[in-house]
Amino acid sequence: MKNPQGVDTGRRGLIGAMIPAERKSVVKTIARVHVTYHQAACTGGVMRTLKNILVTGGAGFIGSNFIRYLFERVGFPGAIVNVDKLTYAGNPESLDDIRQSYGGQYHFEHADIGDFERMRDILARYDIDTVVNFAAESHVDRSIFGPKDFVQSNIVGTFTLLEAVRAHWGKRRDTLFHHVSTDEVYGSLGETGAFYETTPYDPRSPYSASKAASDHLVMAYHHTYELAVTISNCSNNYGPYQFPEKLIPLMIMNLREGKPLPVYGDGRQVRDWLHVDDHNSAVWLIMNRGANGETYNIGGENERENIWIVHTLCEAMARITGNSVDSYKRLITHVADRPGHDRRYAINCDKIKGALGWTRAVAFDAGLESTIRWYLANDAWVNRVRSGEYRNWIERNYGKR
Ligand code: NAD
Ligand code: TYD
Repeated sequence: MKNPQGVDTGRRGLIGAMIPAERKSVVKTIARVHVTYHQAACTGGVMRTLKNILVTGGAGFIGSNFIRYLFERVGFPGAIVNVDKLTYAGNPESLDDIRQSYGGQYHFEHADIGDFERMRDILARYDIDTVVNFAAESHVDRSIFGPKDFVQSNIVGTFTLLEAVRAHWGKRRDTLFHHVSTDEVYGSLGETGAFYETTPYDPRSPYSASKAASDHLVMAYHHTYELAVTISNCSNNYGPYQFPEKLIPLMIMNLREGKPLPVYGDGRQVRDWLHVDDHNSAVWLIMNRGANGETYNIGGENERENIWIVHTLCEAMARITGNSVDSYKRLITHVADRPGHDRRYAINCDKIKGALGWTRAVAFDAGLESTIRWYLANDAWVNRVRSGEYRNWIERNYGKR
């Protein structure tokens, strides 16, 4: 069955939305990642056995892809408990097929990480030995309009989760708390240079400040209470199931609907882009092999100006639909800049590559094209996340620019 864009909707997921040749090449690269992963896992150093994992924020973009990755790619044999508050960004339907296929291992708990009693109960009930904390308010523009939720979920929420873990695990040594963070904690770069794990924190937005605070709390619990922790700081992700408020899915949606493509300021700001599956392979590797108390940067080594991304999306969209590139490019509209807009991010990820043998599997052009195809093929998912709340947000953020 095909949708109006001529894309086959009969298959699900990133790979399902690809044409056969693309699918073959991605399956090959995934196989290569597994070989790399197993090689790294066999080279000595830390080797954890993770049994029952609590994934927070697992109904969001990266968390849902992470759960899918563990079941479908890794073949994780233990239990995965997805704790999510289901904010506007959380959609449990993203994992409907996983629930059906892995019902015995996959459990969903609708809860706030800031609820100490619920967290302690869930940790005990599922005998959790590993926590991976994706839950957060994640959108910079929303943090500018309303920072309070960011302080509450990202700082108080992480603190409460750490307290629940400390109360439940006590002095146990067979546990791990992995905290998922962002490169934005390091601030903004000029024309040159990159963020290292040793770069001093210099957050500029309420979002990045709240993530920085949570990183510090996690490290403080390691030093003070001997909690086993790892932290990852990753650059901008893209891929399927990303809420269409972020640059790439927002532009894809607007291209599809012939709406203006709002580029903030001059569009010359630089972000480093990484496919979500490559982020998740890195997180999983760190959880298994990362040294206790260490931070690892994760990046795409793929720096692009925003305006370049928008032009590239126009060109890819024209290739896929057969419409003219100009009909898309004329939608590009420069709008008022984001206040305090960070100019450039760039990640040095030599540490995870050297110490743990991590490599990326998804080339940017193939990843971008498969992401476009995924959004075109998954109308139902897109339509359901674009609730009244989403429409209000579009009006608030873009209406007065
Ligand atoms: P997202 O907004 O798509 O998903 C966040 C999820 O967390 C949602 O399902 C939401 O309902 C849930 N959540 C929010 N507050 C909660 C709370 N108090 N209790 C329980 N659940 C709660 O975000 P994402 O893009 O998937 O990001 C996930 C994590 O990765 C975040 O910590 C973010 O800071 C980090 N990160 C994201 C990127 C990126 O490019 N998206 C890059 C680096 C790091
Ligand atoms: P975004 O996806 O919000 O991620 P982040 O702010 O965490 O990097 O934005 C990526 C870049 O794209 C950022 O420089 C802001 C810019 N941008 C636009 O130019 N227009 C838009 O409509 C959006 C959402 C972002």
